[in-house]
Amino acid sequence: SANKTLAESQSTFENVAHRGASGYAPENTIASFDKAVTMKATSFELDVQRTKDGRLVIMHDTTVDRTTNGKGSVKNLTLKQIRELDAGSWFDKSFAGEKVPTLEETLNRYRNKPIRILIELKKPELYPGIEKEVAQMVTKTGLTRDPNKVVVQSFNAPSVKKYNQLQPIVKTGVLVSLTEYASGVSDNKLTEWKAFADYINPNYKLVNSSLVKRIHNLKMKTLPYTLPDKKSATKIRSTGVDGIISNYPEFGK
Ligand code: G3P
Ligand code: CA
Repeated sequence: SANKTLAESQSTFENVAHRGASGYAPENTIASFDKAVTMKATSFELDVQRTKDGRLVIMHDTTVDRTTNGKGSVKNLTLKQIRELDAGSWFDKSFAGEKVPTLEETLNRYRNKPIRILIELKKPELYPGIEKEVAQMVTKTGLTRDPNKVVVQSFNAPSVKKYNQLQPIVKTGVLVSLTEYASGVSDNKLTEWKAFADYINPNYKLVNSSLVKRIHNLKMKTLPYTLPDKKSATKIRSTGVDGIISNYPEFGK
């Protein structure tokens, strides 16, 4: 915020690796999350969805088509079917054999690593009850013990509200898309979201100093997504944002 010294803002600046360090390794895999850790990102982001047999898995698209060698919707495939897929070769043959991770193995693996986890509930409208299942997994893996370890966000604001009601100890964020909010975000909207969210995370093209100030005035933070290059990342820092989300952790340093 405007009241911080430069040194303070640099030491607390959130550098979020989008789908892991997905510029360097296949998105939403253990390889990309490990790369985020080795590159010393402060957080990594992931997208969670649910299989046909009710298991929580990490995948961005609602189908497995783009990021694996398989075909079909996540919600119509069993965990066993999804685990048989190769989630690495599409990116580079050196990642052949990389698996689609479960939320459980991911939270367990990074539980004691020096990195925070930004969980996106992806299309929760397709997965009724997923808020409660994710909350239970966050509890089961021990992540509720550190209130700074995890943030849960979604483009679906009612889903974020539901999550906050289920597990108020965990911080939450509302994602703001360019298409839905092309004409801007009103103070009324921000105030509505403030009732259940700690972060407002817009498409970076929506962000300017005025929006950042309005978010900070409501005592919320903001992490714009997805900064495409170092130049735009440097430029957006001057608006006072609390961090950035990008595929390349060096952009946020
Ligand atoms: O974390 C924000 C960003 O991931 C939202 O967009 O499409 O990459 O999930 P998308
Ligand atoms: Ca995402």
